[in-house]
Formats: sequence, structure tokens, C-alpha cells
Amino acid sequence: MKKFIMSALLIGATAAAQAQSTPVYLDESKPIEQRIDDALSRMTLEEKIAVIHAQSKFSSPGVKRLGFPDLWTDDGPHGVRPDVLWDEWEQAGQTNDSCVAFPALTCLAATWNPQLARLYGESLGEEALYRNKNVMLGPGVNIYRTPLGGRNFEYMGEDPWLASRMVVPYVQGLQSKGVAACVKHYALNNDEEYRHQVNVIVSDRALHEIYLPAFKAAVQEGGAWSIMGAYNLYQNQHNCHNATMLNKILKKDWGFDGVVISDWGGCHDTEEAIKNGLDLEFGSWTDGLTMGATNAYDNYYMALPYKKLIKEGKYTTKELDEKVRRVLRLFYRTTMNRHKPYGFLCSDNHYAAALKIAQEGIVLLKNDKNLLPFDLQKTKKILVVGENAIKMMTVGGGSSSLKAQKEILPLDGIKARFADAEVDYARGYVGDTIQSYNGVTVGRSLYETRPQAELTAEAVEKAKQADAVIFIGGLNKSDHQDCEGHDRKSYDLPYAQNEVIEAILKVNPRLVYVNISGNGAALPWINKVPAVVQAWFIGSEAGEAIASVLAGDVNPSGKLPFTWYASLSQCGAHATGSYPGNWREDYKIIDEEYKEGIYVGYRYTDHKGLKPLFAFGHGLSYTTFKVGKATADKQEMTAEGKISLVVPVTNTGKVAGSETVQLYIAAKQSKVDRPVKELKAFQKVYLQPGETRNVTLTIGADAVSYYDETANGWCAEPGTYEVLIGTASDKLPTKYTFKLK
Ligand code: BGC
Repeated sequence: MKKFIMSALLIGATAAAQAQSTPVYLDESKPIEQRIDDALSRMTLEEKIAVIHAQSKFSSPGVKRLGFPDLWTDDGPHGVRPDVLWDEWEQAGQTNDSCVAFPALTCLAATWNPQLARLYGESLGEEALYRNKNVMLGPGVNIYRTPLGGRNFEYMGEDPWLASRMVVPYVQGLQSKGVAACVKHYALNNDEEYRHQVNVIVSDRALHEIYLPAFKAAVQEGGAWSIMGAYNLYQNQHNCHNATMLNKILKKDWGFDGVVISDWGGCHDTEEAIKNGLDLEFGSWTDGLTMGATNAYDNYYMALPYKKLIKEGKYTTKELDEKVRRVLRLFYRTTMNRHKPYGFLCSDNHYAAALKIAQEGIVLLKNDKNLLPFDLQKTKKILVVGENAIKMMTVGGGSSSLKAQKEILPLDGIKARFADAEVDYARGYVGDTIQSYNGVTVGRSLYETRPQAELTAEAVEKAKQADAVIFIGGLNKSDHQDCEGHDRKSYDLPYAQNEVIEAILKVNPRLVYVNISGNGAALPWINKVPAVVQAWFIGSEAGEAIASVLAGDVNPSGKLPFTWYASLSQCGAHATGSYPGNWREDYKIIDEEYKEGIYVGYRYTDHKGLKPLFAFGHGLSYTTFKVGKATADKQEMTAEGKISLVVPVTNTGKVAGSETVQLYIAAKQSKVDRPVKELKAFQKVYLQPGETRNVTLTIGADAVSYYDETANGWCAEPGTYEVLIGTASDKLPTKYTFKLK
């Protein structure tokens, strides 16, 4: 017994000695904030300055003396970008950086399925972990303000509620793997063409009701560990060091405790960066930064120039310590987290996730006389037309471009799935024949020299013989065709697509148009084409996903995350003349006033009584659904209370499928202008033929609130509200009225 006590005492003493010798900042039993304080107290001024700016294109240093590893970021948001050289955008030429390309975020939003957003984040997080990346530069949640927006494909559509519900699980899924999300581009980065020049003028109401909610949800509900400032200006100040955006809204009002990272080259001023909330500077192209120069990073705005101002006594280390605290917090959440799960690259599960998201996001826009799914008995000769059937879409488009380990092209997917039919191909038109992007070459040569007349004639000739024609067109991630750095020049489909479609329709009306893009487009022949499918940029499994929908193996259930305008005049930004176009050649600041205010997307078409080509939330299925009468647990709600509505949904058709029940709120009277309706809840439900399920949708007072510009806060006015429930924003048969007390 005595011996036992002695050895217990000895063990206790050793543990205590060990604990004593472990500094607090390394002691995992201590709360993170205490560890941060301790680490901070040990850091020199030089070490502090070092951790708040980059040391290479995508990394920033840790604190080697104290054992904090370097921090590695990478794009984002559709897969983990291949490695570039230390100081240059050129590919590093690694052989172990191919990835799974997940569908673009527009497609994810079109699933209206938050569980898939979680799966997306988790899968991407595992790929990032394997590649030793600590921060993924994404997801993007800028609002789809105009269909010309070059980066809309990287975002989650036009509606703040939909984007909010989808971004939260994406962030949580990613961060559950110990990889930080860097939600971008905060905020008002809705103009790609002039992203460095635009000074956005927007009402507080539109800012808070339309442009900020998804960022706020990502921060407050998703718990995002970092956020990326946008290039553009707001209140004449760059968003990467904008006092209102960062200090006031993000950090003070929302309580953000993470790191504000500049967009690459988005920092322009040392003192503004010091004072206005930027924490970590990346990608600056300052005077001293020439490619490969050894001292380049010392010349960053938040490097030696900052240190100099401290040495001169203009600033104390107050702001610096605050920035370093946040960076250290990010270290503890990522690089210093020793309990992260394992990473996997290109796993079967990741491919399965990419396929599932792609299949659920594809939207069946039109399907006259049930042309789709193809009747395999009658469809023996299929003609595929269009460059997008053979063009890799994981390559191009800007920083989201990937080196995918595999990408099934639409033509190959169709050939594989319809192996019993004769599948022929005609190019139809030639687009921008870009063969490579950022060092990654497209899989198949797109070289083509025949004149357009010959290409059209070939497609028409072959179409005459076909039982069905699948035209795979749309945009293609070349400059001005859904690509970073530029907006589209026109709402029309580019190249000779319309001409070829019209020519084919004259000889074969059994034409399915599959549109690949992140944006809507004018479809002048729409009344003559029986079936239209929106297939986005959907990554590694594109061909398989598209073919599975055309064949009916998968019953489409995607819903549009934006309004598909018939023409640009239906879009508020254009109708009010408040989009600057693509004509400027100088680099002067452009004031861009969002004159349409809160009337973005369906809020504008509703307001003006316009009928778009396809409404927000629209998407057909191979079966039919009926939404029944709503019952509610109460007719009156208090400001703190909630109301739950139950609606029965029945699959009235012959095949199983999913329907998304959408709930919109219409304010019956208000002190201020209110949109005709606003999305406030939704639920996707899978039903067997004949099956009925009750869907419960719950809303609180936030669902009826507007942003009160005089009180600078949200206001839920007592009064009567109508609930509209259905399966698209233009198909809301079920109504319920309640009062807010
Ligand atoms: C883009 C960001 C991207 C960064 C790094 C910038 O030009 O706007 O979205 O994350 O580059 O590639």
C-alpha cells in the first residue's frame, strides 16, 4: 500500500513538472484565449508583423521560434486548386495536386438541399486536409445582381435566404475538418468588370436585406473562421480596409472573431489597413514586389511600412496585437489543431458526393409533351451538337480553375449511358478555343478550322437522320463568358449557337437544349424547343450526371436559384440604368449606384409585374406533385414567438422524385415599400409515387422584418402577413394569413 502511494505521488509530481514545463500557449488543456495571450506575450514585433502578411502567393508564415507552422491558403470554392510556384501564378508542376472538381456553387444552390451543402463542405475539407491546406478561399456568396456577372457561377444565386441556408452547412462541413472557410467577397462585389474601380452606392436597406444576410449567416450561424474583403469600394473606401464594413458591421455588430483576409492585391493603404480591420494581407503588388524578388513581401502595406509607423511612434501595437490575436486564433483552429480528422484526395466518396450534388442541382426548365426522359425504345439515333459537349469546364473561369483528376465530358457521358443507341456528334459552332488555363490543358483538342456555314450544314444534315438532338451549349468560362475579371458583354448566347439551333429546328423539332453556364441567357427560340435543361458547370462527373437525367435514371429536382429573365430589361440593375456596362478603359473610380435598391431578382419582376422566362425557384420533375392546404399551430405570433405551418405534399405521378416546398411572406401593410413576396423557408422532400408527406415550415418574426434605415436595425411591424406556399415563386397555390402582435 505504502509503495502504491509512493509511486502515485511520483507520477503526480512528474505530471506536474511536465505541465509546468509546457508553456501555456502549447498546453492543450488551457482555453484557447489564454493560449493566445501567452503566445502574444512571447512574440517580438518582427514576429507579429510577419504573421499578418503573406510570404508567398498563397502562404503566410507562422512563428517558427515558437513552433507555429506556416498557414497555407488555396482556392476555392469548387475544389482544391493546383499548387502554384512560391512567387508566381505559374503552376508548380506537382504530380500530386489533381483533385475532385465539385459542381459550381450555383449548382449547389440549385439543389435547395442544405444537407448536400454540408456534404460538399466536408468532402472539400478532406481534399484540402490531404493537400495540407489550412484555409479554403470560399465559399462565395455575392448576390446575383445581373446575369452578366462574370463570377455568378461561383456564388449561390439572387436570394439572401436561400444563399444563407446553403452557406451555413458548407462552412460548418468544411470547418468540421479543421480547415477554415474564407467567405468571399465581402461585400458588394457584384460587378466583375470593374471590380477594382467600382465604388458602390447602395441604400442601407438593400445592403442589409439583400447583400449582407448570407455573409452574416456564414459568420454568426456557420461560425466562419475567416472572411475575404472584396476589391471594390463602398463609401469611397476599399472593402479590404473599410471602416464600416469591417470594424462596424462585421466585427462589432456581428461579433466576428476570425481573420479578415484581403483579396489578392485588395490592400491599398497602410494606415487604412491598420485602423480599419484588415488582419492578413495577401497578393499585394506593391512597388517592391517584382516576380521572385526576395524582399517583395517586406514591402507589403502591412509589413515594413507598418513597422516603420510603429517605430516612429505614430501607432502603438494596440491594433497590431488585435490582428495578431485573430491570426493566432486561426492558427489554433487550423494548423495548431492536432485533433483533425484524416484527409483524402480523390476518394470514391468525394466522387459520389460530386455526382449526387450535380444530379440534384440540374434543373429541368421545360419539358413539353414529356420529351424527357428519352424513351429508349424509340430513341435509337441520337445526335449531340455543341462545343460544350466536348469542352472541359473545370479548366478556366479564373481562380476557381482546377486540375481535375477526371472530368467526364457530356458527350462521353451520353455515349456511355446510351450505349444501345447510335450516338453521333457535330461541333455546330466554334467558341473561344482556349486549350489551356493557368498551365492546365483541356483534355481534348478543340482545334477546328471549318467555316461556320460548313459546321451548321453538318449539324443540320446529321439532325435529319436523328430520333433526337441534344444541343449542349451555353457559356464556357472564357473571358466574358462566365469568368473572373470580366462580365459578359451581352445577354445573348455567344458564337453561332442561336443560328445553329434555328437551323436544326427546321429539320428536327425533337431538340433538347442543355445549357452549361452559371447565368441565364436570352433563348429566342424557346417556344420552338420542347425541352430545356440547365446543367451548370458541374465538375468531375458532369457527363454522367447529365446523361443520368436525360435517361431518367435520376429524376431532376433542381430549382433555379435566380430569376431567368426573358431580357435584360427585366433585371432591376439594367432597367434602372445602374450597371455601368463594359466600356471603360481607364482605371478611374466609378460610382455605381444600385438604383433598384431592394428590388433584386424576383423582387424586381414581382414589383413591376413582369413575367420572366423562368421564375426563381422554378424546376420541373418527371413526376407531378400536389401541395395541399396549410394548417398552422397559431394564427397570431408574438415578436419572440414562432409559427409552424404544416402542408401535405403528394407525389401524384408515376415515378419517385423530390419536390422543394417553398414558403414566401407577403406583408399586407407596412410603413415602407415591401417586396410583393420574399422567400423565408423551404424544405425538400423525397416521395414515392402516390406517397403523401407533411412538410413543416417554421418562421419567426425575422421572416417578416425589414431593415429600418431610421432606427438602423431590423423591425418587425405588428400587422397581417400572408404566407404563400408552393413549388416555385410563380406557383404558390397555398395561402395562410397570420397576425404579428
Ligand atoms: C480572387 C479571389 C481568389 C484570389 C486568390 C483573386 O483574384 O478574386 O477570389 O481567392 O484571387 O486566387
